[in-house]
Amino acid sequence: MQFELSPEQRAVQARARAFAEAEVAPIARAADERGEFPIHLVRRMGELGFLAGAVSPEYGGSGLDHLGTALVYEELGRADSSVRGFLAVHAGLVAACIDDWGTEEQKRRYLPRLASGELIGCYCLTEPNAGSDAASIEATVREDGDSYVLDGEKIWITNGGIAGLAIVFASHDRAARHKGICAFLVEADAPGFRRERLPGQELGHRAADHARIVFDGCRVPKSAMLGAPGEGFKVAMAALDHGRVGVAAGAVGVAQACLDACVAFVRERRQFGRRIGDFQMIQAQLADMAADVEAARLLTYRAAWLKDQGRPATQATSMAKLFATEIAVKAASDAVLIHGGRGYSSQYPVERYYRDIKGLQIYEGTSHIQRIVIARELVGKEER
Ligand code: CAA
Repeated sequence: MQFELSPEQRAVQARARAFAEAEVAPIARAADERGEFPIHLVRRMGELGFLAGAVSPEYGGSGLDHLGTALVYEELGRADSSVRGFLAVHAGLVAACIDDWGTEEQKRRYLPRLASGELIGCYCLTEPNAGSDAASIEATVREDGDSYVLDGEKIWITNGGIAGLAIVFASHDRAARHKGICAFLVEADAPGFRRERLPGQELGHRAADHARIVFDGCRVPKSAMLGAPGEGFKVAMAALDHGRVGVAAGAVGVAQACLDACVAFVRERRQFGRRIGDFQMIQAQLADMAADVEAARLLTYRAAWLKDQGRPATQATSMAKLFATEIAVKAASDAVLIHGGRGYSSQYPVERYYRDIKGLQIYEGTSHIQRIVIARELVGKEER
């Protein structure tokens, strides 16, 4: 066992940190307040080789290992969860998924453009009546001559308003539950593809682009199917195994940002004639936060490492996502408290971390779902 990053991993970490500190963090607050995704960062992330990190160079990717991509998510998560969330979907749920399941033609058609940022990807699984219970999706697909025709509604689609390519899940036989689901690569200019902003304002991730997408007799060629007929649920779950490492790493980044902000604050802030960092109650909170961040980081790196070894990583990934998001929610809550009234104000970044982190505990499978995945590997699933 060794706990050192390789020179390549250290190099990508340094590149991601420099980018996050110089180009992402300084505009995060303004993007949050405007509710606008900083779209110019997409090209920059393409130039830096982050948009299709784990994809092989043959298809325009950077050939990074999974641990290398986790380091990028962590650094971006420290700066802005909206930008990290964009990348976890684009690179993890979409580009890596096409790399895993696509035909040679699909890879050549889409991966180089996803890698450069010319094309943005989104992942359309969630529906109004199918969130945690992904196998119950109501979107349908039928064959019509040399096409497939999709009908249905998807919500909470990250990057949905700006994407040129969507991975869409639909059922050709709803009675067959997950065995009836197929996956498709749908271009946003396909006839019958319609999208709009979600109603309401979100608690956090206010710079992220979340959309509702409607497929209204949306026609795609037969070559648009990703994976085999009826294999769509496995495509969806395997993609989420990539995406969830990205969320776990992003949560480690948020928790680290909370710790950094608190350490700086408690060294300066004075009450009762002393720095508040000299009070044991504050020290205990900081010590717990630091231990939690390290534990979450180790779980996350281990999940990525298992993927790099080609070993089963689903349970380890769910453990990392569960633990990292839970400790980051606590870190953000404690960070606001340690900052007192200042932490409650948009003048300090911990207020944004506190709002953003709740989303990581929900999307790509809530903490409840991660516990189900972990427990099923412990006790198995009873056939009913
Ligand atoms: N990799 C590959 N295959 C997998 C898998 C994985 N990680 N997990 C399950 N499967 C396979 C199983 O082996 C099984 O295959 P067989 O039929 O051959 O046995 C099949 O899929 C069905 O598995 P389950 O019986 O476990 O399925 P289930 O209906 O009980 O559901 C679940 C399991 C874990 C609860 C799943 O529904 C789930 O993960 N739900 C959460 C969905 C989710 O994360 N949604 C978020 C979407 S994305 C988002 O947040 C927004 C965005 O914009 C990104």
